[in-house]
Amino acid sequence: MEETSYGTTSYSLLLWLIVDTSPRIEQRDHVRILKKAIKKTLATLGYELCPLGLRASISDFVNPTQAYEQRLIRNFVNLTQAYEQRLNESGDLIEINETRSTLIARMCGTPPSEAYYLVEALTRCTNVRGDVCEYGVAQGETSALIANEIRSGSKALHLFDSFEGLPKPSEEDRLKDDIFSLGSMEAYTGTMSCPEDMVRARLSAISFPPQRYVIHKGFIDHVLKHDSNLPEEVSFAYVDFDLFEPTKLTLDFLHRTTSTGAIIIVDDYDFFSTGVKTAVDGFVEEKNSGATVYECFVPNSRYGYFAVLTRKG
Ligand SMILES: C[S@@+](CC[C@H](N)C(=O)[O-])C[C@H]1O[C@@H](n2cnc3c(N)ncnc32)[C@H](O)[C@@H]1O
Repeated sequence: MEETSYGTTSYSLLLWLIVDTSPRIEQRDHVRILKKAIKKTLATLGYELCPLGLRASISDFVNPTQAYEQRLIRNFVNLTQAYEQRLNESGDLIEINETRSTLIARMCGTPPSEAYYLVEALTRCTNVRGDVCEYGVAQGETSALIANEIRSGSKALHLFDSFEGLPKPSEEDRLKDDIFSLGSMEAYTGTMSCPEDMVRARLSAISFPPQRYVIHKGFIDHVLKHDSNLPEEVSFAYVDFDLFEPTKLTLDFLHRTTSTGAIIIVDDYDFFSTGVKTAVDGFVEEKNSGATVYECFVPNSRYGYFAVLTRKG
C-alpha cells in the first residue's frame, strides 16, 4: 500500500493516542502529542495551526476581508485618538472625534499626515472671518473631512469641480509623476472625473446639512467669471486642481477674498505635474515682492506633497 509520510507518522500517532489509555500517559501529554500530530498533518497539506488569540477573532475565519478591514479601522481610530490626545496635551487643541478618524482611515488619495495638516489648519482658522472652500473635490473624500471639522460652526462650505475630470494641461504642466502610467500629460485629460452625487452622498453620510454647502459645478475659469454665488470672504481653502492654470486662477481669486490669518493648502506641490509648484511659487513671489503677505511652508515630502500658505497681511 502506498502511503505518504504524513499519512504514516501522524496517523499512527493518532491511533496510538486513541488506543493507549494507560495511566502512564498524563492528560497533558495526550493533548501535546495530539496537537503535534494534527500540526504535522496540516503542515504537509500546506496549512498552519495557530492559537485564535493571535488572530483578530473567530469572525476573521468566517469572513476574513470584512473582519480584517474592521480591525484595521478600529486600530487606526485607536491610534489617531491617542495621537489627538497627545496633541491636546502639548496645547494644540484638536477636538477628539471618531468620525474624523474613520474618514481618514478610509481615505485613498490623501495620506493621513496631510489630512492632519488640513484638520489643524481648519482649527487655526476657526476665528478667521469667511467661508471654507475646496477646489477640486472629485468623489468628496476630503470634502467630508473638511465638512466634519466645520460642522459645529456656521461657516458655509463651497465645493468646486468640473465633475468632468482634468482639463487640457498647459505648457507649464510637465509630467513629473506618471501616477496612472498613462505615458504623457495630455493623456490625463478627462481623468479623475467623478459624479456630483457621490459628493452629496458622502456629505449626507456624515449628516452635514445640505443648506450648509454649495456645489459650484463647471470648469473654474468659467465658474469664476459667471457664478453669482461665489464666496465673498474665505478663511480656509484646499486647492487640489492638479494643474497650473486652474491653480493659478484660484490663487488669484483667493488673494481677493482672504484676509490675515486665512490659510490656503495647495495639494500636489512638486508632484504629478510641475504646474502646481510653478503656480504656487510664482504667486508667493509676486505677492511677497514688498512685505511678506504669505508665509509658505512645504512639509517634508514623507507627509505628502503640499504647500501651506498662511496669510500674514
Ligand atoms: C485630484 S482630484 C481632487 C481630489 C479631492 N480633493 C480628494 O482629495 O478627494 C482633482 C479634481 O479637480 C477637478 N478639476 C481639475 N481641473 C479643474 C478645473 N479647471 N475646473 C474644475 N475642476 C477641475 C477634477 O475634475 C478632479 O475631480
